[in-house]
Amino acid sequence: MGTLHLDDLRQYSDALRCRNGIVVTVRFVEPRDAATLQSYFRSLSVRSRYNRFFSAMRELPDNLLEQFMHVGERDEFSVLATTKIDGFEIVVGEARYAFHPEAASVELGLSVDDRWQGQGIGSALLRNLECRAAALGAKRLFCDTLRSNEAMIGLARKSGFTLTSNPDDWKLARFVKQIDTGPLDIACASWRLAATRIDAGLAYR
Ligand SMILES: CC(C)(COP(=O)(O)OP(=O)(O)OC[C@H]1O[C@@H](n2cnc3c(N)ncnc32)[C@H](O)[C@@H]1OP(=O)(O)O)[C@@H](O)C(=O)NCCC(=O)NCCS
Repeated sequence: MGTLHLDDLRQYSDALRCRNGIVVTVRFVEPRDAATLQSYFRSLSVRSRYNRFFSAMRELPDNLLEQFMHVGERDEFSVLATTKIDGFEIVVGEARYAFHPEAASVELGLSVDDRWQGQGIGSALLRNLECRAAALGAKRLFCDTLRSNEAMIGLARKSGFTLTSNPDDWKLARFVKQIDTGPLDIACASWRLAATRIDAGLAYR
């Protein structure tokens, strides 16, 4: 498989239309985003942060923030979901996904700003992550969530994921979705192109 060349991160941005006509851009985190990302996590409700990280934290610890900022390192990727208000970009969600080549699977975690929840952003982001996973060559997408997290359980079910158990932690539910789309069938145009280039053994920049 070819490698993602991340020299110009902006070429991997997608515009998603959500419910109520909200247009959200999904783009890789860039070095300039560290403070924005941290204030996004600080502004989440205590419950959303707990559901996202399975532990009580007021903000991202330095080591975790560092990991979020290094897109592509160890096949781990962070994206921001943003929208524009009065010409200013604001962050309405984020996701992080990790490609495990040996298992041909992608593991993901995501959140949507509390003020923007319930408007289809989580669903659109998850669909986009499916495209990104397929472009990496993954055959399986999965996500761990607390068994008490009704919103994520509802979102995963609605998005076609199947409930299984986490082999290491009984408190967590694991949602799994098989990806059986070939490169040409990927629903997002940008990732279809990326996948066909990877398939042809071309590194892309
Ligand atoms: C889970 C989360 C990402 C959902 O995002 P969202 O943008 O609100 O989701 P959507 O608006 O796309 O909702 C899609 C579906 O999810 C389900 N859902 C969403 N919120 C729900 C809730 N509070 N209770 C039950 N089901 C819910 C519904 O089936 C919904 O479809 P519907 O609106 O047609 O009924 C969001 O609640 C969140 O960020 N939570 C905190 C972080 C987190 O829990 N992350 C998951 C673990 S990594």
